[in-house]
Amino acid sequence: PLLDPPTHQALVVRSLLSTTAEEREKILQDVEYNIFAFPAALVTCDYLSDSGTSAMTDLQWSALIRGDESYGRNWGYYCLLETCRDVFERGNDRQYAAHSVVVGTADGDFYRSKLLKPHEGGFVNGGPHQLERPNFFIVPQGRCAEFLLFSTLRDVIAEQTAQKEERHGGPRVIISNGFFDTTGANAAAAGFALETFTQPGLTDAFPEERVGKQNSFKGNLDVVATEAWLDEHPAKACMILMTITNNWAAAQPVSMGNIRAAAELARRKSIPLFFDACRFAENAWFIREFEAGYADRTIPDIVQEMFSYADGFTISLKKDGLSNMGGILSFRDQGLFAQRYEGIGLRLKERQILFYGNDSYGGMSGRDMMASVIGLCEVTKEPYLRNRIGQVRSFAQKLQASGVSVLSPPGGHAVYLDMDDFFHGCDRHPGDFAAVGFTLELLKDYGIRAAEAGPFGWEWDKKPPEQQALIPNLVRFAVPRHVLSDTHISYTVGAIKELHSRRHSIPNVKITRGKDMRLRHFSAGMKPV
Ligand code: F0G
Repeated sequence: PLLDPPTHQALVVRSLLSTTAEEREKILQDVEYNIFAFPAALVTCDYLSDSGTSAMTDLQWSALIRGDESYGRNWGYYCLLETCRDVFERGNDRQYAAHSVVVGTADGDFYRSKLLKPHEGGFVNGGPHQLERPNFFIVPQGRCAEFLLFSTLRDVIAEQTAQKEERHGGPRVIISNGFFDTTGANAAAAGFALETFTQPGLTDAFPEERVGKQNSFKGNLDVVATEAWLDEHPAKACMILMTITNNWAAAQPVSMGNIRAAAELARRKSIPLFFDACRFAENAWFIREFEAGYADRTIPDIVQEMFSYADGFTISLKKDGLSNMGGILSFRDQGLFAQRYEGIGLRLKERQILFYGNDSYGGMSGRDMMASVIGLCEVTKEPYLRNRIGQVRSFAQKLQASGVSVLSPPGGHAVYLDMDDFFHGCDRHPGDFAAVGFTLELLKDYGIRAAEAGPFGWEWDKKPPEQQALIPNLVRFAVPRHVLSDTHISYTVGAIKELHSRRHSIPNVKITRGKDMRLRHFSAGMKPV
C-alpha cells in the first residue's frame, strides 16, 4: 500500500489542564451556557475556530524577530506588499520576500531592486508607496476589511447617486455564494441588501466511496440563478462576492470553472467581482485534486489563476495567512472596481488611518506582518496542504465509520455533523436548538468545544419561512492548523459516538438573553431545558 509520510513535527508543546465534568458544568452555568464565553484553558480539544488558532512554523517564529515596529513605513510593510504580489498576481518571483527577510540577505538589495519599482495593474499598486492610487490596505483582521470596504462603498455610492440625482439610491445589493456571519452583518450594517445564491444540494448525500476521489464543489455560486436575478433587477447589484472556500456552505470549495463563469457574468454586467479569500490555499488544493486539467499545475500557479479573475478581495490572515492576527483589503489597480467607484482608494485610506492606524501597519504589529509574510508562502506548499486537508478528511471518515453522519464530501477547514440525521427518531424541531444542547453536553462531559452552525447561529427564529428552509442543521468542528494530533481526533470521535448513542437524553436549549442582538451567538445567554 502507498503510505503518506509525515510532513511536520512538533517544536513546542503545551500541557493541557485536567478538569472534571462537574467543574465544567459550574463554569457553563456562570457563562450562561454560551460556549464562546467558556475559558479555553479548561477545554481539551478546541474546535471553535480555525481562525487565529494556528501553530506557527519555525520560519514564522524566526521572522518575528525581523519585525520592525516603526511608525512610518516599517520594513514588514514592504515585505507584505511584495509577498502579496508574489502570491496573488501572475508572473512574480515567488517567495523572494519571505526568504530574503528570514535569512537576512534582503535589506539593501531587496529594497532597492524590488520595492521601489512602480508596478501597475495589480493588487498592490499606485506606485511603490501607495500614495497616489492606493489599492492595498492592511487591517487587524478580516472583519475590519469588510467594515472598511462596505462602509466606504456605501458613502461613495451615495455621493455618486446624489450627483446624478438618481432617486432609487444607487446599486445597493451584494450577491454572494455565501456570506460569512461577520461579512453579512458588516454589509447589512452599512445598509446593503444581501442575496445568497449557493449552488443547490449542499446536504445531498455524497457516496462514501467517492470521498477523496471526486468532489462536487458544493461551495459554488449558482451562476444561473445569479444571472436570472440580475436580469430581473438591472442596476441594483454593486458587487459579487465569492467566499473561497465557502464557510457558509460547510467549508466547501469553489471550482475554477465556477470562478471563471462568475467573472464572465460579472464582466458582462459590469459588476465588480470580489473574493472573500480567507481560505484561498485550501480552495486551490481542491481544484488541483479534483478539477479536470489542474492535476499537473502547482498550487501557487492555481492561486494566481484564481485571483486573475477577481477585481478585488478581502482576506483574514488568521486562516490561510497561518497567522494569529491580520487582514487585507485590496482591489485591482485601474480595474472595474477602481473605475466604477472612482477615488475610492483615497477614501479607504482615510478611513483606515482614522480607525486602525497609519496605512503601513493598519493595526497590525510589525512582528505579525512578518509572520504573515512567511505564512502566506508556507500555506501554498503541497506537503502542508496534503497534511491539512488529509487530517480534516480522515476526521470525517472516522466519524462516518462510527455511524455518525457528516456533511459529505468534507470541506477544507472543518467537519460538519448533520444534526437532523444525528437526532433521527428524537422528534426535535429547529426552534428546540437541540444541536446547541449537543455542543453543551460535549463541552461539559468531554471538554470538547464545537459550534452550532444551524437554526441558532443562523437565526432561524427571525427568518421568513422561505429563508428558514435554506438553513442547514449542522455543528461545526473547525480544525486549527498544525495544532491537533490523531489522538485529539480519536478522542473526539469517541466522544461524539458516545453522545450519539444517548442522543435521546440531550437537552433542548432556550435563549434566555440577547435573542435579538446582531451576531447573537457571541453574547446571548442560554439554558438547557
Ligand atoms: N470571512 C470568512 C469566510 C471567515 O471565515 C471569517 C472568519 C471572516 C471573513 C472574518 O475574519 O475573523 O479575521 O475577522 N471566520 C472565523 C471562523 C471566525 O471561525 O470561521 P476575521
